[in-house]
Amino acid sequence: MSSPAIEVTNLTKTYRSKSGGTTEALKGISLTVPRGAFFGLLGPNGAGKSTLINILAGLVIKTSGSAKICGYDSETAPRQARGSIGVVPQELALDTFFTVRQALDITAGYYGVPAAARRTQEIIEAMGLADKADAPSRRLSGGMRRRLLVGKALVHSPPVLILDEPTAGVDVELRTQLWDYVRGLNKRGTTVLLTTHYLEEAEELCDEIAIINHGQIIAHDQKTALMGKLDKKQITFHFTTPLAEIPAALADLSPALREGKLTLEYQPSRANMDKILTRVRDAGLIIRDVSTEEADLEDIFRTLTKRAA
Ligand SMILES: Nc1ncnc2c1ncn2[C@@H]1O[C@H](COP(=O)(O)OP(=O)(O)OP(=O)(O)O)[C@@H](O)[C@H]1O
Ligand SMILES: [Mg+2]
Repeated sequence: MSSPAIEVTNLTKTYRSKSGGTTEALKGISLTVPRGAFFGLLGPNGAGKSTLINILAGLVIKTSGSAKICGYDSETAPRQARGSIGVVPQELALDTFFTVRQALDITAGYYGVPAAARRTQEIIEAMGLADKADAPSRRLSGGMRRRLLVGKALVHSPPVLILDEPTAGVDVELRTQLWDYVRGLNKRGTTVLLTTHYLEEAEELCDEIAIINHGQIIAHDQKTALMGKLDKKQITFHFTTPLAEIPAALADLSPALREGKLTLEYQPSRANMDKILTRVRDAGLIIRDVSTEEADLEDIFRTLTKRAA
């Protein structure tokens, strides 16, 4: 069996300031990201996401615990560990003197990728930077710089790609293009770990999600299972004649009446749809159409972080 893409065990990080203050950014995190996953790491500002990622990237020194990438320990095999991941940092750190092409070539050289094996042009095109390839990066817009950072993380074709808020400030069209590319990489076997504040993005892309809050993992599951955890479903009824008032018999189902349509709320674990339909019919209403709405990630996120607080 090959080792997981990422394996973090009891990882802690306490930042110490010169004035003697401390911040416990990670309070003993254990997390396994399987090979080939499209993994979402979500959490509010200051939760510890970047700290975790920066430890994996070798940019921040952990306080205790262990972090392994493709089986390589970040402490005992730092070079192999670093060579196994490409990290797109949250901070826009670029040497703005070099052109886009130079920046990619230099990074490839840093990772020891021989000139013949470089994918500089492919990356430039995939990142939508073809017309800026020979411009110094100081002349790139914020969104373009971020795309260059994504490109730089890919030069050594790492088996694990980590993206820390890669789409902040990137416009919708290029965001779509970026995700198409990353999704393609994932289909061809690259493990992707992503943090984002765009929950709908994580919902669409990720197959597995962990939620971190105050330096602790508060939920970790397959996306579908995680969404199933929020036991609430809404069902809206359209009737042949618009409804004028809420039948008293349905009062326990948090009824809401809008434009003649009735919305009810129920817990799928306690009541099934059939029961709800029967009760509506028993109230003497003739159903023309129904639509249902399930909890989305945003609801889950809010519920879980509130519960943990
Ligand atoms: N270099 C540092 N020195 C001291 N404290 C730090 C440092 N970097 C982060 N912290 C603190 O550690 C905690 C976790 O920060 P981190 O950047 O990991 O959060 P995050 O989940 O990435 O947040 P965001 O969503 O805002 O990017 C915060 O309380 C933060 O203030
Ligand atoms: Mg961060």
